[in-house]
Amino acid sequence: MSRKPFIAGNWKMNKTIDEGIALVNELKPLVAGIDNVDIAVCPTFVALAKVGDAIKGSNITIGGQNTFWKESGAWTSQVSPKFLVDAGCKWVIIGHSETRGRFGTVDDELGKVLDYFGEKDVTVNMKAKFAFENGLIPIIACGEMLAEREAGKTDEVIAAQMKTDLAGFTKDQAMKMVIAYEPVWAIGTGKTCDSDEADRVCGLIRGIVKEMYGADVADAVRIQYGGSMNEKNAAELLGKPNIDGGLVGGAALVAEKFATIIKSAK
Ligand code: 13P
Repeated sequence: MSRKPFIAGNWKMNKTIDEGIALVNELKPLVAGIDNVDIAVCPTFVALAKVGDAIKGSNITIGGQNTFWKESGAWTSQVSPKFLVDAGCKWVIIGHSETRGRFGTVDDELGKVLDYFGEKDVTVNMKAKFAFENGLIPIIACGEMLAEREAGKTDEVIAAQMKTDLAGFTKDQAMKMVIAYEPVWAIGTGKTCDSDEADRVCGLIRGIVKEMYGADVADAVRIQYGGSMNEKNAAELLGKPNIDGGLVGGAALVAEKFATIIKSAK
């Protein structure tokens, strides 16, 4: 089965409302008419609604960068799927390494434990299920840290994440879910994962999906690569059989670069 490529820009904590609108206004003509790639941008929560207005009528969609598993109530700072849908979102990123608090491990540079958000696989799974129930498609991120890779534990780490993150979806949900393989050491570092290795890990993920949901789901599910993907390396990564798209950080903040990546996928 041929899977439709999906390129999403994760803006992280970048772009004010006006800057976000300007960015999508620049992007729109560059990608106009491309209908064989799904295109999304994921602005900050506060910019979502206005950027959502700016992309109306175009082939660009929007997504949130996180969500919560309760609909509403006394959950200070949280943003449930209902609010994301209200702002026009189709997608939501869940379990990004930056919201997983880098797994609560010691950051040498800061000399302290980084567990700001404390996301765990169980909460990733709860958020993904609740997102589905409320009309959003989750982009579920996974990835190993450098120390885990160097210790030869990549496959085991990814398998453990995926088995919990992806548990208990209906078959229909599993068909629609998007998975992003983002090796943590490649994020924002300029050290892209070798394309064959990224393809191998994406293939491993597809194998886990097959074990959990069957061959038809494994064949349909889209797996993105993320981690220093840019306008120069995108074509090679996106040319690999198991890589169906990209979750792009830094390069998604520049319209021309993001458009080049989108065009390399088509
Ligand atoms: P960079 O493309 O800046 O490495 O970020 C990748 C990422 O984390 C996307 O979610």
